[in-house]
Amino acid sequence: MGDIKKSKILVFGGSGYLGKFMVKGSTSAGHPTYFYVRPVKPQDHMKLNLLKEYLTMGVTIFQGELDEHDKLVEVLRQVDIVIATLGVPTYMEQLKILKAMKEAGNIKRFIPSEFGSEADRISPVLPAFQECIDIKKLIRREVEKSGIPYTFVAANSFGAYFVNFLLRPYDKKLHKFIIYGTGETKFVCNFEKDVAGYTVKAATDPRTENGIVIYRLPKNIITQLDLISRWEKKTGHTVEKTYISEEEIIKLSRSSRLQNAVAGAIVHSMFIKGDEMNYELTADDLDAVKLYPDYKYTTVDELLDIFMVDPPKPVVSTFE
Ligand SMILES: NC(=O)c1ccc[n+]([C@@H]2O[C@H](COP(=O)([O-])OP(=O)(O)OC[C@H]3O[C@@H](n4cnc5c(N)ncnc54)[C@H](OP(=O)(O)O)[C@@H]3O)[C@@H](O)[C@H]2O)c1
Repeated sequence: MGDIKKSKILVFGGSGYLGKFMVKGSTSAGHPTYFYVRPVKPQDHMKLNLLKEYLTMGVTIFQGELDEHDKLVEVLRQVDIVIATLGVPTYMEQLKILKAMKEAGNIKRFIPSEFGSEADRISPVLPAFQECIDIKKLIRREVEKSGIPYTFVAANSFGAYFVNFLLRPYDKKLHKFIIYGTGETKFVCNFEKDVAGYTVKAATDPRTENGIVIYRLPKNIITQLDLISRWEKKTGHTVEKTYISEEEIIKLSRSSRLQNAVAGAIVHSMFIKGDEMNYELTADDLDAVKLYPDYKYTTVDELLDIFMVDPPKPVVSTFE
């Protein structure tokens, strides 16, 4: 069989936490990969090193602001697919990308930045998180109206992110685990590498056009207590457990510190209400595991093994 022409994928937010996985996921799947990044300052060595690494991976880099409409249109005309991994505070900026994509007229698929709970099916959550869900829904409606083919991704919880949050494997002096609620609510813990891997597949798949793909990977459906007990078995250490009640979590979600308020509201949705598992998948749902049965995803257990060998630097902390 001859070479299948690979779609050109442009990533917005490729310097962020998920974005780095996405850029790598795209290049490792063999897609010509493009990255649109805000102009990098000469003293920003970390960002410059990242760009250098991307260049060695063959990534084409464009520097520009999302406000530079004409530049954006020109860049978009050179690619086929757009994946946005912008952070929550920048969600609305995606309307600028959408406007430019409409003018460019050639984009075959847009995946907006979501990568969490299924925004249209999650039941009402606490205000600090609901605001974020409402923006995701607003962007979805604008994308649907735009006529640009899209795929919405409900990635559920990020594995490394929440293993860090719950187990703090980098903290050698850890003397207690914090358990939110009873610890028995099921959630989905998907390694970021696979979130990117599945997303790159879905972005180029005719079956997922104008659909919602859900990442409920069976071996990654777990409870906090189960996660902790697996970790204790692997490390050989039993650690004291402290429980935080629903009332305390609700109080945290009302914190004047926005970061704590959002974290509290997300924790409430995940660990008290169990929103990621609260709805049945229907025949119309696009289940990543069924779409890509040959993709070997990292199970939670394998992720814990990775953390045993190489505990990552913290990306999130518990409440401050
Ligand atoms: N399900 C989960 O467990 C989970 C966990 C974490 C995140 N997420 C989701 O994953 C997605 C990405 O989040 P993240 O945490 O990876 O984000 P992040 O690390 O905060 O990265 C944000 C990216 O957006 C870029 N950006 C910020 N402001 C910008 C602006 N004004 N113009 C252009 N680019 C701008 C940043 O670029 P600079 O480098 O230029 O600042 C960076 O590349 C979000 O949808 C988030 O909700 C889900």
